Amino acid sequence: MPAQESKAPGIDRLAEVLNATAERLRDNYPYFHPLYAGQMLKPPHPVARLAYALAMWINPNNHALDGGRATSAMEKEAVAEIAAMFGWKSFVGHLCGGGTMANLEALWVAGQLHPGKKILAGEQAHYTHKRISGVLQIEFETVPCDSRGRMDADALAIRAARGDVGTVVATMGTTATGSVDPLPEILALREKHGFRVHADAAYGGYFVLAGNLGEDAARTFARIGEADSIVIDPHKHGLQPYGCGCVLFRDPGVGRLYKHDSPYTYFSSAELHLGEISLECSRPGAAAAGLWATQKLLPLKKGGEFAEGLERGRKAALALFGKLREDSRFVMAFAPELDIVVFAPRAASASESSGLTRRIFEAAAKRDLHLAVAELPVHFWAENLGAMKRDRETISCLRSVLMKPEHLDWVDRIWEELSCATRAVLKS
Ligand SMILES: Cc1ncc(COP(=O)(O)O)c(C=O)c1O
Repeated sequence: MPAQESKAPGIDRLAEVLNATAERLRDNYPYFHPLYAGQMLKPPHPVARLAYALAMWINPNNHALDGGRATSAMEKEAVAEIAAMFGWKSFVGHLCGGGTMANLEALWVAGQLHPGKKILAGEQAHYTHKRISGVLQIEFETVPCDSRGRMDADALAIRAARGDVGTVVATMGTTATGSVDPLPEILALREKHGFRVHADAAYGGYFVLAGNLGEDAARTFARIGEADSIVIDPHKHGLQPYGCGCVLFRDPGVGRLYKHDSPYTYFSSAELHLGEISLECSRPGAAAAGLWATQKLLPLKKGGEFAEGLERGRKAALALFGKLREDSRFVMAFAPELDIVVFAPRAASASESSGLTRRIFEAAAKRDLHLAVAELPVHFWAENLGAMKRDRETISCLRSVLMKPEHLDWVDRIWEELSCATRAVLKS
């Protein structure tokens, strides 16, 4: 092509503004560090950062092949590898902005297939399912959870018998506790009542590759491929920068629901343009490049290096759970099903324990151990509360997400810091 020179406006002041940007970015928690174990934050793999940055230089748009030929092809390949992880060869699916967008799309399809019927999800399902149902104007109801934070299958059976349920959302790893809804029982109820099953595996989906799940979670992940749709977030456990969710449908025929007659969307070829099977229009091709490169380096295989990373996080969670359970200063809810541990300080009552939680959270942060606080039903602690008074419906507890492979090497240090922070709070 003829040579072309471009000079971006304002380029003379670029260094100055970048320095100011870097200065502003200092105000963050140390997300990369294993002592950060608060929210679901996992650093992207270096190959993902580099491939993303490389593609960003081109800035392709994966809406259409016209805007991102190479990255559309990479997206199709990377998404096919994710679908294969669930045992799907024929499917329709794509990347999107994140778990919320992906769930919106899955429920938008579900609503069209079961018009006038309700969406049900467990009480611990991500809060956005209710909001999404509101946007879609589909009635939404929650199903109670059992004492381990999983959808109560008996309660679902009673509710589904009314015959007005169009879709059941099964959460494969709840946001607060990493609990895994009982998919085999939910699938059995689908046989009986004909609703759709949507698996929200935004957080937990990759654990299908882990070889060290407990019996119940393993039983559920073995059946995930039988769901009608699956959401999984490469930007959570898939080592990707933010802006990378994924939605998959088992029946490729749902592609017909996306048909539109826009006069201004011109496609340059008869090949599949991702915009024809996605709710969003413009999307970053760079996200596909990051994901594609990561999966080339770390294939989604059981027993592989990527799977080992997940297994290490789970081992770390079990190790921390073991230490907490042995220490009388804490009271445990239940053993982690994935890599999230929740625990509360033992006290005379749930309200007193909730107050201590806040103080331990702050004392730990001062020691550079960053945890999270969650508000969970007291009945999760039912078996272990002992003499503690249940004077509240919920308990503010501490929550630790051990999702980095390195967390396993840091469990002792995490425990030490937590133990010291707790000692300081209980003494004061
Ligand atoms: C189970 C589950 N679903 C959906 C979401 C929403 O995903 P996102 O934050 O990517 O929109 C989350 C986020 O934590 C989640 O844990």
